[in-house]
Amino acid sequence: MHTEMFGAYIMDDIKKGVQYAFQTSNNMTLAMSGSGHTAMECAVFNVVEPGESVLVAINGIWGERVAEIAERMGAKAQTLVKTPGGHFTNEEIEQALAKHKPVLFFLTHGESSAGLVHPIDGIGDMCRKYNCLFLVDSVASLGAAPLLMDQQNIDILYTGSQKALNAPPGTAPISFGERACHKMFNRKTKPVSYLLDMTHLSNYWGNDSKPDRIYHHTGPVSGFFALRESLAILAETGLENSWRHHNEVAEYLWKGLEDLGLNLFIKDRDLRLPSVTTIAIPEGYN
Ligand SMILES: Cc1ncc(COP(=O)(O)O)c(C=O)c1O
Repeated sequence: MHTEMFGAYIMDDIKKGVQYAFQTSNNMTLAMSGSGHTAMECAVFNVVEPGESVLVAINGIWGERVAEIAERMGAKAQTLVKTPGGHFTNEEIEQALAKHKPVLFFLTHGESSAGLVHPIDGIGDMCRKYNCLFLVDSVASLGAAPLLMDQQNIDILYTGSQKALNAPPGTAPISFGERACHKMFNRKTKPVSYLLDMTHLSNYWGNDSKPDRIYHHTGPVSGFFALRESLAILAETGLENSWRHHNEVAEYLWKGLEDLGLNLFIKDRDLRLPSVTTIAIPEGYN
């Protein structure tokens, strides 16, 4: 078999696997050559132009990083801040959308630095109302906690290969909905990064209307093979079984820790991230 054709088959399988994992029918679905940070930068660089306003929810380190990424490319990063472990009500988010009129709102679904899984329902609808794109980081939560890209009106979603997907690090699935594609393919300026430019990446992944895929960069081939396998395992397991499994294991760990006399950092069970458990530091310890 011709190697280039073989590569295309693997990439097509990855695309289908990511569509299942994200629960999306988005054509613009692919995997970045790089870790979760690559997907983070790809999302911001492609849909935001210098001078535009971006709203970033910060309740741990990932929002802080996205705000910095947006600032570095010349966007205006407005922030909505809670102490780590806190979460935002839909009313708080709506007020900030109305005030800042951002082109993009960023929220972390699984805030690994605090062990919090953020509620998502209703936020995508509000973003539509304010003509803003909804970007969600699911690096630490995808496959471990329920997330439904299309149903929850998420415009851009990314994850990493090395968390609940259980593949080696180095590839990062990402998907863009129609509204995001419209914004990123009708820009006045070119994205600051050549490597992360979705005009090139969409062709590389066979997602544009051109008949041929043209060389853009050298993909992490072994990483792609492993990612394809991990997505196949997730599809065979089934998302609901995967969510249930992570939850059962987490509950077992939470009980064990509480039996030892430790307190969990996230008090509300429904807000605990099943894939990352955080413990409140006991009195008297630094
Ligand atoms: C929520 C979240 N976002 C983004 C990242 C960054 O991913 P990577 O380390 O693969 O670049 C991580 C890594 O731990 C994470 O937990």
